[in-house]
Amino acid sequence: MARRNGGALLLLLPAFLLGLLCSHLGYYKAYGITVETDNKLVKAREFEGAYLNCKHNAKKQSDTRVEWKKISGKDVSFVYFQGSFIGNFKGRAEIRHSSIQIKNVTRKDSGKYRCEISTPSEHGQEAGETEITLLVLVPSAVPVCEVPISAMSGTVVELRCKENEGVPASKYRWYRNNFPLSESLMLGNVKKDRLPYAMNTTSGTLLFNHVSKNDTGEYYCEADNEIGQPQKCPVKRMQVDDLNVSGIIAAVVIVALIIASCGLGVYYAQKKGYFSKKKSSSRNSSKYKPGGNEKDFKHTKSFII
Ligand SMILES: *[C@@H]1O[C@H](CO)[C@@H](O)[C@H](O)[C@H]1NC(C)=O
Repeated sequence: MARRNGGALLLLLPAFLLGLLCSHLGYYKAYGITVETDNKLVKAREFEGAYLNCKHNAKKQSDTRVEWKKISGKDVSFVYFQGSFIGNFKGRAEIRHSSIQIKNVTRKDSGKYRCEISTPSEHGQEAGETEITLLVLVPSAVPVCEVPISAMSGTVVELRCKENEGVPASKYRWYRNNFPLSESLMLGNVKKDRLPYAMNTTSGTLLFNHVSKNDTGEYYCEADNEIGQPQKCPVKRMQVDDLNVSGIIAAVVIVALIIASCGLGVYYAQKKGYFSKKKSSSRNSSKYKPGGNEKDFKHTKSFII
């Protein structure tokens, strides 16, 4: 009994392996030819060249059709079709076997590309494809900085710095009086240092929860993504004052403005003769009406008398 079972097992094992192999071959055939790339993520600086590699194992090279498409979300557009480049790829790209070389990439070329290979076979058409992501690297632009000119001590103040061109996104660093401010030490979302500010190098913000007079200074920020040179915004001064001082200054300024505007108003009114005109017109009307009234009154009076 045991021997028979053992023999059956010995027969079953090769059969099983053969079946596995056959199903694998079938699987392979259903999928057609193999299409691969050496580099699934191509990074290239803007205005330089990019090589998108695509290779396949189709036997009849002459009958093999090569197509390239660009995929942007749901939109699929042709890059290379029926032996020529399409649209804005015309004249600035060349085909090398089934790979493509773009001579002068711009940031708009970033995205997903698909290499599609098809070839006729005895079972009809066989096809395969592979996808490649092209990331066009762009240096940081000059950032825009928001620094308040003045602030009251004890208040919350946030300085902002941002540029929108850099690929990959820039990191930001703030400087005060030409010294770099050290990055906040974070543990998760909890600040773990005694610095009077929190600098976020990703968002570009410099946050003071209680700004103090010591924070007065000349501020600027630097954006850097290590593709080009670091870029800085113009220096801006932030003046932090105690409530009293700025309150008094504000009050004085407001009072001075009120006095000045009153004075100006009176001056222009007088210059335009606003006062004298009003006087003369009121004089005229008072002269006429009471005069008429006086006459009537006199008449009536005389009549009565
Ligand atoms: C920094 O800013 C980014 C983007 O706004 C945010 O996702 C991140 O949580 C911030 N980091 C800290 C430590 O607050």
